[in-house]
Amino acid sequence: MRNRPRAFTLAALAAAALLTAGCDLGLPAGRTPHREGNRLDMGDQPKLKPQREDIFGSRPTGLMEPQPGTVAIDEYPYPYAQAEGALAGAELANPLAPDPAILAHGKFVYEQICITCHGARGDGDGLLTALFPRPPSLHTQRVRDWPDGEIFHREMRGQASMPSHARQLDARDAWAVVLHLRQLQESSPVAPDPNAPPAAPAAAEDAPGESS
Ligand code: HEC
Repeated sequence: MRNRPRAFTLAALAAAALLTAGCDLGLPAGRTPHREGNRLDMGDQPKLKPQREDIFGSRPTGLMEPQPGTVAIDEYPYPYAQAEGALAGAELANPLAPDPAILAHGKFVYEQICITCHGARGDGDGLLTALFPRPPSLHTQRVRDWPDGEIFHREMRGQASMPSHARQLDARDAWAVVLHLRQLQESSPVAPDPNAPPAAPAAAEDAPGESS
């Protein structure tokens, strides 16, 4: 009977292998009640995997999503609809003062984003106008008379073929651009309104040097 212990060992090994394989097949993924010494818990832990269906409420993902309506710190959703430019102009005030750092930031943002269509000085001659509708000059009396909030509104909501830039700009960027635009306006002659008959007098101001 020298073979007996060997047969026994083999049988024990086979049983162990079967058990281990069984662990892998295990219980279906999901919550298994934890039991002391239950090795199934090793391969099937009560955890969420982001790309696996959530076990609570069967959402399509285990990722935790923000509650509807959640707003990030320092994020202020823009409340005015596209047609409410005048209202935005009446209600919004520019929170920034035109100090050198803000003006430099406004120029920087303008020259990253707006310049492609509106041109370096806002004359509507940006490089993209070869392909894209040419915007009117930003030096018309109309835009000069707009309160800061109306220009801010164009950046947030766009206008006709101009898309919204709310995704590229935060509020500080957009207000700083308005201040930069004001500076460009101060140093540029009033442009004729493209919609008005040519009677509009273009009162050319003295351009006190290049400020940009
Ligand atoms: C992709 C090109 C494009 C970019 C980029 C762009 N604009 Fe415009 N913008 C236009 C066009 C085109 C119009 C004219 C839309 C229309 O037909 O009323 C316009 C109109 C405007 C007006 C209203 C002018 C008026 O007299 O009605 C303002 C103000 C303005 N843009 C500001 C900005 C600012 C500030 C930026 C940068 C944050 C910017 N735009 C970026 C294309 C652009």
